[in-house]
Amino acid sequence: MKNIILLGPPGAGKGTQARKLVEERGMVQLSTGDMLREARTSGTDMGKKVAAVMDGGGLVTDEIVIGLIEEKMKGSRGAGFIFDGFPRTLGQADALGAMLKRSGQHLDSVIEMRVDDDVLVRRISGRYTCGNCGEVYHDETKPTAKAGTCDVCGSTDLKRRADDNAESLKTRLMEYYKKTSPLIGYYYAQHLLRSIDGLAEIDDVAKAMADVLDPQPVS
Ligand code: AP5
Repeated sequence: MKNIILLGPPGAGKGTQARKLVEERGMVQLSTGDMLREARTSGTDMGKKVAAVMDGGGLVTDEIVIGLIEEKMKGSRGAGFIFDGFPRTLGQADALGAMLKRSGQHLDSVIEMRVDDDVLVRRISGRYTCGNCGEVYHDETKPTAKAGTCDVCGSTDLKRRADDNAESLKTRLMEYYKKTSPLIGYYYAQHLLRSIDGLAEIDDVAKAMADVLDPQPVS
């Protein structure tokens, strides 16, 4: 059982790879982005606040996301956790360390997915998602086989995200470099950081992930 963090800017491919790991290894994907998108549809005051922050590309407070993660961790069982989009601040990273310790667990690896900014813009602007099963597509690199229909579940509810626009992406990238990229040094110092080329084809990125998760003994 392995617990890993997928670390990378918006559009790096974290969600795409997390879904493959869930399917192939039975790991549990904990995506704070997905949890917050669910919360915003609740119509509560918290949901409304979260929606405004997300649409603008800013970060939701540490208190809210830590609470969401803690609750999901308690209720989930599987072959290890994939933390997708969490932690995003040093405060969240400290809280995650403490939560894992309290439950007798630890982190195995933090996989940093490196992708150039100009590619991120292309990935985000071409992305669409199945509203039913969550499968992620792209206009050019991963279109559905049949236009308008999800390959996985057959739903025709394909959507673009409200925050996938040029203005919000600029803020999301700034937030990543200011508040999240310090985690690279934080986890490097703990000997947990592994960096992979997120620019490669989806299947090649998955192979690089597998090399991190199942390292071959040196002969
Ligand atoms: P979140 O949902 O986490 O968004 P994000 O981090 O901005 O990441 P994305 O989902 O945009 O990208 P991804 O890396 O998963 O890429 P994907 O696989 O989809 O967060 C949204 C918002 O919620 C935040 O802005 C913030 O407001 C809030 N939030 C979330 N977590 C928070 C936290 N911890 N603290 C505070 N606030 C928080 O791929 C993108 C596209 O590229 C797809 O179309 C895909 O098909 C394509 N693609 C993927 N890989 C490849 C490849 N290798 N080659 C070609 N195309 C590819």
